[in-house]
Amino acid sequence: MQIVLCDDAEHAAREAAKWVQALLVHKAKPVLGLATGSTPIRLYQELIALHQLQQLSFANCTTFNLDEYFDIAATHKQSYRSFMQKHLFNHVDIDQTNTYLPACSQGQNPRLVGLEYEQKIAAAGGIDLQILGIGSNGHIGFNEPTSSLASRTRLKTLTAQTIADNSRLFEPDEVQPTMAMTMGIATIMDARYILLIATGQAKAEAVRQMVCGPVSAYCPASILQMHEHAIVVLDKDAASLISDQQYLKVAEQENQRMIDMYGLQFIAE
Ligand code: PGA
Repeated sequence: MQIVLCDDAEHAAREAAKWVQALLVHKAKPVLGLATGSTPIRLYQELIALHQLQQLSFANCTTFNLDEYFDIAATHKQSYRSFMQKHLFNHVDIDQTNTYLPACSQGQNPRLVGLEYEQKIAAAGGIDLQILGIGSNGHIGFNEPTSSLASRTRLKTLTAQTIADNSRLFEPDEVQPTMAMTMGIATIMDARYILLIATGQAKAEAVRQMVCGPVSAYCPASILQMHEHAIVVLDKDAASLISDQQYLKVAEQENQRMIDMYGLQFIAE
């Protein structure tokens, strides 16, 4: 894992945006994996700002989101489709017909929807860069603890912890979904590059288990230890429980030196 240590959440968003920018600038038809949640909002703001400065175009980009609540209308304000429209798609030059989420409604067979989603990703040439957050329970996408490390896009039941973590986003009288379609862990691992962002003390223990722990379905994010190109962007609080902070700092300085010398365009190769 390449651990990028940042001072705060704004710094983390700027560092993460550099990787997305490198892919979009250097690859003719980039395929981006997107995430929802509080964490990537700052990254999306950075990307929108770069687009407004004419330093970034999404015109040739195809996107696949990690997950979508089960049986939720695209137009529902809590759908992840609505989230993406609000926080990114409505503000950039993306062709919205090239933006995909694993939407599945009651009456559709989730198994077939999952299979079709996998096929669409493959037909687009696979995901070049997958953006991830991490749940306080170590989930990636909605792959909750105990998810098969070999899983593919499918329907998952959310844990009480995830439902509680996300309840802040719902009005008291709103029904909160308890199931979601999510890319599987193997789907995520197929991405050529992974960019996980974590900020805040609430993520520190999950980050520790991801980085230092054993690889275990009990902390789904720990599978990233097996990925060839996993970039983990952390603020100080999220990184606070990782052992050997001194090594992390030295390694980060060396990484930055290499990036200053050679740039990040290799992400598009
Ligand atoms: P958050 O969610 O960014 O809202 O903390 C992250 C996640 O659950 O993956």
